[in-house]
Amino acid sequence: MSEEPSRPPPRRGFEPLPEWVGPTTRLVHGARRPELNAGAVVPPIYQTSTFHYPASHSESAAHGSVYLYTRNLNPSHEGPAEIIRQLEGAETARLFGSGMGAITTTLLSLLQPGDEVVALEGLYGGSLGILRGLLPKFGVRVRWVSDEAAHEPEEAVGSSARLVFLESPTNPLLRVHDIARWAQAAHRAGALLLVDNTFATPINQRPIPLGADLVVHSVTKYLGGHSDLVGGVLAGSKELVDPIDPSANVGAALDPFAAFLLDRSLKTLSLRMARHNENGRRVAQALSPHPELARVHYPGRASPEEEAIARRQMQGRSGMVSLSLARGASAIPKFLGRLRFVHVAASLGGVESLASVPGETSHRHLSATERRTRGIDDGLVRVSLGIEDPEDLIRDLTEALDALR
Ligand SMILES: Cc1ncc(COP(=O)(O)O)c(C=O)c1O
Repeated sequence: MSEEPSRPPPRRGFEPLPEWVGPTTRLVHGARRPELNAGAVVPPIYQTSTFHYPASHSESAAHGSVYLYTRNLNPSHEGPAEIIRQLEGAETARLFGSGMGAITTTLLSLLQPGDEVVALEGLYGGSLGILRGLLPKFGVRVRWVSDEAAHEPEEAVGSSARLVFLESPTNPLLRVHDIARWAQAAHRAGALLLVDNTFATPINQRPIPLGADLVVHSVTKYLGGHSDLVGGVLAGSKELVDPIDPSANVGAALDPFAAFLLDRSLKTLSLRMARHNENGRRVAQALSPHPELARVHYPGRASPEEEAIARRQMQGRSGMVSLSLARGASAIPKFLGRLRFVHVAASLGGVESLASVPGETSHRHLSATERRTRGIDDGLVRVSLGIEDPEDLIRDLTEALDALR
């Protein structure tokens, strides 16, 4: 597709729900339009790359056909995008073929040569890679802010900043940053705030009502929730997100089948998050005194200030816990090898518990020294607790730690 005419906005046709509707009801009923889907309760998968295109554009609009080519928009994208839009409290949301697709497309679309990005160091390794490797090639400067300096956003955001990019809780140390305060500091400097909300999910934290301009997710994680799809989403105002539309030509489109899986998964998001939150809290509490652990990282644990921020801005802390093994890197293979219910795999947010070593997965592109400087010690194992029974997970992890003695 070389020439793509500008299209009328999609007529989404979703019945608006009353304001008072709770998040779980919203997840199940927030994107109904059976009349457009032969009455189907579960929308079909529109597994097509392209759409019939009436002779003239006005004819196309008259037929209600707003779809042209799946790289730009497919009806299977619209339900899950609508649900995420509502949950995040955004004006609009757009799906992408991966979290990195959403992040890269957003950064490339918003930034220009000479712009400065203020980036917090506790970002996902893939985002660090784009900020360090790709953006400087296009004349975009990045100003890095450490987790410690992140407590003073007003000092970190200068008048040359165009965009502030943060994640909270961070990956993999689960540090918590004050989104409302960062939003204020960014806006005072005339910059936008972009928040990666993947670890928290909109069930636990809503950056847009806290002041963020844009929210991204890897929907591969909790929103997809079953470790069977890869996708991303960007949510925010129409003014910011709509111009990113043509940039879908970057090619980071979500496959309709993945969109269908996401639609199915979102219906249970709040139920799953309740269990993930419980498992995270109980495992962090139960493992903390274990002598084989130098430290248990959990959102809010780093300091009383972070605990206070977490209480203010989070409704739950997620199922993420990172464990620093007291014996360091040499103990990792034995520890991982003893786990029965925690699979050793990259990624997070699925119904099954997963453990990974950031130095070998998400943060492998940093040197060992860079990792240590950022507090990612050699014995760190990141655990994404699934929805299994908390007692079984505590037992599994405790027995694997006991085996190190
Ligand atoms: C916090 C966070 N953001 C973004 C990404 C990238 O998402 P994806 O793997 O869907 O490209 C990841 C992936 O691990 C992540 O953990």
